[in-house]
Amino acid sequence: MKKRVLVSGGAGYIGSHVSVELINSGYDIVVADNMSNCDLTCFEGVKKITGREDIPFVKMDFCDMEAVNRLFDEYRIDAVIHFAAFKAVGESVAKPVLYYKNNLSSFLNVLEAAMGHGGCNVLFSSSATVYGEAEKLPVTEQSPRLPATSPYGNTKQICEDILRDTVKAESSIKGIALRYFNPIGAHPSALIGELPRGVPNNLVPFITQTAIGKRERLSIFGNDYPTPDGTCLRDYIDIVDLAKAHVAAVRRMLDGKMKKDYEIFNIGTGRPVSVAELVHSFEKVNGVKLNYAYVDRRPGDVTAIWADTALANEELGWKAERSVDETLESAWAWEKHLAGKE
Ligand code: UFG
Repeated sequence: MKKRVLVSGGAGYIGSHVSVELINSGYDIVVADNMSNCDLTCFEGVKKITGREDIPFVKMDFCDMEAVNRLFDEYRIDAVIHFAAFKAVGESVAKPVLYYKNNLSSFLNVLEAAMGHGGCNVLFSSSATVYGEAEKLPVTEQSPRLPATSPYGNTKQICEDILRDTVKAESSIKGIALRYFNPIGAHPSALIGELPRGVPNNLVPFITQTAIGKRERLSIFGNDYPTPDGTCLRDYIDIVDLAKAHVAAVRRMLDGKMKKDYEIFNIGTGRPVSVAELVHSFEKVNGVKLNYAYVDRRPGDVTAIWADTALANEELGWKAERSVDETLESAWAWEKHLAGKE
């Protein structure tokens, strides 16, 4: 019998790409989302890409314990990938209670329901933000986690700890946390991608919206950092590569290949790229000119972060494959696809 994976927050940017890769790898899935930060565009795209009209979709809020229990009653769930969370760093500073309540209680509800239904494999969607401004680069999974600088970042740290402690106490729960670096790009079909609401906070959606004329000018935050060209360094990971890492992690859990009951993996490329380099690559590969200007640093940004990916490469048998250029082409194709629909 096929194994079934619950994808919480599965209608969103990362969740939809992961759904495609899970189906392509032979898993059954159930997608559940409260649609608080997305519409059905990406879920419809997942159905089109996979040719599967029958993917179960449940509109529900993971903060609603009864709804989570009903979901586990209805489906036999072998693994959960938990994406359902708020993700805007700035908003989390302004609305900490909202962020703590939503991000923590939804995850606690998933764990409680899993425990009440005979246990489960749980994959938690974490972030490189847990490393803060790291002293030694690249960061390994052993690098220290620094105090979070936003409630959003803190919810990632707390959820990692909740999973670690739960796994220790409950033999029926196994867990993996994937720490993502900077996911960018879109599916090569241009049928799914990032759909930011309002003004984008992240670099690539801001670039593509500027290129298409939705935004007048891209601001590059700071060119006086102690880096080769003065702009920040990040590890930009292609969204499809990132999605494939989830399949590798789920397979590891379901095939009983974990070496410890709770494991952590960095999911990045291992290559630092500066903001200016990314902007210029976008212009070059897509043949467009971007209107941009250097402005002051953005408060809270770290100078540089990139991943040591050796553990994920060895243990998950996974490696980032797409080049930054290909990824930037896919991001532009997606923006143009959206413009065509407007
Ligand atoms: N940047 C710009 N202009 C923009 C947007 C971003 O110059 O309009 C720069 C930022 O200063 C940064 C780089 O582009 O140097 C990347 O910024 P993003 O906002 O795309 O990504 P971050 O590295 O800030 O964000 C990541 C994750 C978040 C996480 C955060 C922690 O995407 O989930 O790190 O600070 F919370």
